[in-house]
Amino acid sequence: MIYFDNSATTQPFDDVLQAFVKINQQYYANPASIHERGVEANHLLTRAREQVATILRTESAHTIFTSGGTESNNLAIFGLAQSNEHVGKHIITTAIEHPSVLEAMHNLEKDGYSVTYLPVNAAGEVSVASVQQALRKDTVLVSIMHVNNEMGAVQPLTEIAKVVHEQSRAHFHVDAVQSFGKLPIYFNGEAGPDCITISGHKIHGLKGTGLLAFRKRPLLTAQIVGGGQEFGVRSGTVAVAQNVVLAKAMRIAFDEQATHFANYIKWRHKLVATLLDLPDVKVISTKKGAPHIITFAVKELRGEILINALQGKGLIVSTSSACSSKQQQTSHVLEAMKIDPRYIKGVVRMSLGVLTTDKEVTEAARILRTVITQLKGASV
Ligand SMILES: Cc1ncc(COP(=O)(O)O)c(C=O)c1O
Repeated sequence: MIYFDNSATTQPFDDVLQAFVKINQQYYANPASIHERGVEANHLLTRAREQVATILRTESAHTIFTSGGTESNNLAIFGLAQSNEHVGKHIITTAIEHPSVLEAMHNLEKDGYSVTYLPVNAAGEVSVASVQQALRKDTVLVSIMHVNNEMGAVQPLTEIAKVVHEQSRAHFHVDAVQSFGKLPIYFNGEAGPDCITISGHKIHGLKGTGLLAFRKRPLLTAQIVGGGQEFGVRSGTVAVAQNVVLAKAMRIAFDEQATHFANYIKWRHKLVATLLDLPDVKVISTKKGAPHIITFAVKELRGEILINALQGKGLIVSTSSACSSKQQQTSHVLEAMKIDPRYIKGVVRMSLGVLTTDKEVTEAARILRTVITQLKGASV
């Protein structure tokens, strides 16, 4: 089987799994304990924290290990909104964020916050001017994803960061779950984010691992209270093995990013060329988007039918957002992009990864051609 659903999740690296077992066997002590074993476990944790901080160009004390992208996004949004309530209650985000951002925003609205949802153009991009216009004196947070999970649109983070920092006191949070390891993302003074979300299972780490990192020392309200771990912001006995292997997965993703990028560009070109050659196919991802995500639709053909037919031939893909693909609603991202209704129910996402090979791409192109031609009733 060819697995082209890496944006939903990735296969953990063998090294990650082996390290996880080994650390749990040898360094299972609570890193907060003052005995020798606790000190050893804490030493490993400290090293992992230093590694992730170095990769993102920040300091160890500015990193909070979490259970994944959803928790990191929730913590950033609720935590920063609540701790800045005295400054204002206005937040800016986009119409195409992941549900872990949008649902947090909806909850804040119920608590009296005002949220501006910026529109996107047909390519799924937010305009810097729209951010500029939306900023107000009472804006405390701007939360904008780097790469969209459903169709790969990339937002102009540098320009947005400059505007946010020049014109407001707002914090700029970036959901980098789909971009870390695929495009460069790190703290870069006023020309970058203030806060970044990362998820381990999208980069061949483990599910249930993640990071929320800050450019400066974070002042945010804890969302999980208890023993005061993670600088008082995220209580609970710290999962040493999970965090160490998250650092490992981040290191590999970071070191190899540029190499894989060139492959994704080449493979996207091949797959898109195949798709465009077929009847009634619309490619939704654009050339400016992240190259590992290729989203397309076949006119008046339901996504599930296409996905099942492709699976029957050995190609695993998903509907545009695998996280919520079991819900039958139309995607909010595709609606925001104003996709032609004849295509919107049939949108399929192929997401490549570091384990993808040339051979797989060639075979996938062949399968796409056979299946779509057959489903459209033409002879192969
Ligand atoms: C853009 C984006 N943000 C956040 C998440 C949530 O991450 P996690 O599954 O680690 O909770 C996902 C997962 O698909 C995502 O694609």
